[in-house]
Amino acid sequence: MPTIQTLKARQILDSRGTPTVEVDCLLSDGSFGRAAVPSGASTGSHEALELRDGDKKLYGGKSVLKAVANVEHILEALQGAEVADHRKIDGNMITLDGTTNKTKLGANAILGVSMAVCRARAASEKRSLWQSLADQFGVKLGKQVKLPVPMMNVMNGGKHADSGLSLQECMIVPAGFDRFSDALRAGAEIFMVLKKLLHDAGYSTAVGDEGGFAPHVKDSNEAFSFLARAIEEAGYGAHVKLGIDCAASEFYKDGIYAVDGKKLTSAALVKFYEELVSRYPIVSIEDSHSEDDWDGFVALRKAQPELQLVGDDLFVTNVSRIKTGIGKQAANAVLIKLNQIGTVSETVDAIQMTQKAGWNAVVSHRSGETEDAFIAHLAVGLQTGQIKTGSLSRTDRVCKYNELLRIEEELGARAQYVSPFES
Ligand code: PGA
Ligand code: ZN
Repeated sequence: MPTIQTLKARQILDSRGTPTVEVDCLLSDGSFGRAAVPSGASTGSHEALELRDGDKKLYGGKSVLKAVANVEHILEALQGAEVADHRKIDGNMITLDGTTNKTKLGANAILGVSMAVCRARAASEKRSLWQSLADQFGVKLGKQVKLPVPMMNVMNGGKHADSGLSLQECMIVPAGFDRFSDALRAGAEIFMVLKKLLHDAGYSTAVGDEGGFAPHVKDSNEAFSFLARAIEEAGYGAHVKLGIDCAASEFYKDGIYAVDGKKLTSAALVKFYEELVSRYPIVSIEDSHSEDDWDGFVALRKAQPELQLVGDDLFVTNVSRIKTGIGKQAANAVLIKLNQIGTVSETVDAIQMTQKAGWNAVVSHRSGETEDAFIAHLAVGLQTGQIKTGSLSRTDRVCKYNELLRIEEELGARAQYVSPFES
């Protein structure tokens, strides 16, 4: 196995025009890997630290030059290290940082290296990244390899748009299909119909951070009625379900949830969701409650046992929080974001703990993204079965779906598409 020869980091821009870290990794056998780090807007307070310079004269304080420089310190520690054991490489960076939240080197510096090394290793093996990841992390791929069900965020609210919609993401979930490419086509066709419906109703069809529309609808009910109509008119009826990422920490303050012009207690919020679920074919709700309102999650889980209840800000891809959640039965699915925890190995630990508990893992982008499609490979390599990577517009979102099309093509007859949601 080759060793790490050089690591070179640079500052690039993400989809919001905000600086982020990109890392190049060159191995001793000449293999090369490049990776770019994403960035959230509705970040959980328990996430690993995204190191920013804070110098107001540069990008309003958002430059990442310190994180870029920290990759040079990482290189001093990792130069000559064998890439055969990725957990060891990540472990060395965690030790070098020495803090629980990666505050010294920055999770953006550490993750950029971790991902770039995985890519370089796959290049050295002359294999696709998804295959290399599966092997490195002990995933036994059978005759059939699962492509993930995409949760497509076609209407953006919350911190991702100025639509006034309290819920951050209203998603379509293609359930009843045999192939990923057909599921994607359904999503794109529904997106086109939705555009026309919004336009005809006099709404804006400009898009938010994740490429979904951001009309000034009155409330969640109106948003979901547009989505339901678009699914119907595109001819997909029962085959396409709905999902929500409430990102409820963003509308929570002092024990009260301010949603759709109402002020609700944690218990009343459960009723609010139950009402929505009774009206629309909603199969998945993410971050229904604020990031430390464990009781709110437990109550919704009990009230709607059939629903997929996903923890994002609740778990922050952190095994200790996921373990707590499993103990409390506070959810039945975990959103997986590489930069919430800061290394590929720890991300895989989070996925594998989730899968072992019989819960679903949903690999996710961030609202600030780049052209990097690492997460498409992570979802296939770790066989998570679900991915959330935005709408059917804007290359920062669509590039992940396009990469999945290529993986499906590469897999040929081995490719499998199974939805955990009934169609
Ligand atoms: P973020 O949003 O990347 O802004 O945190 C995505 C999400 O909440 O799932
Ligand atoms: Zn979320």
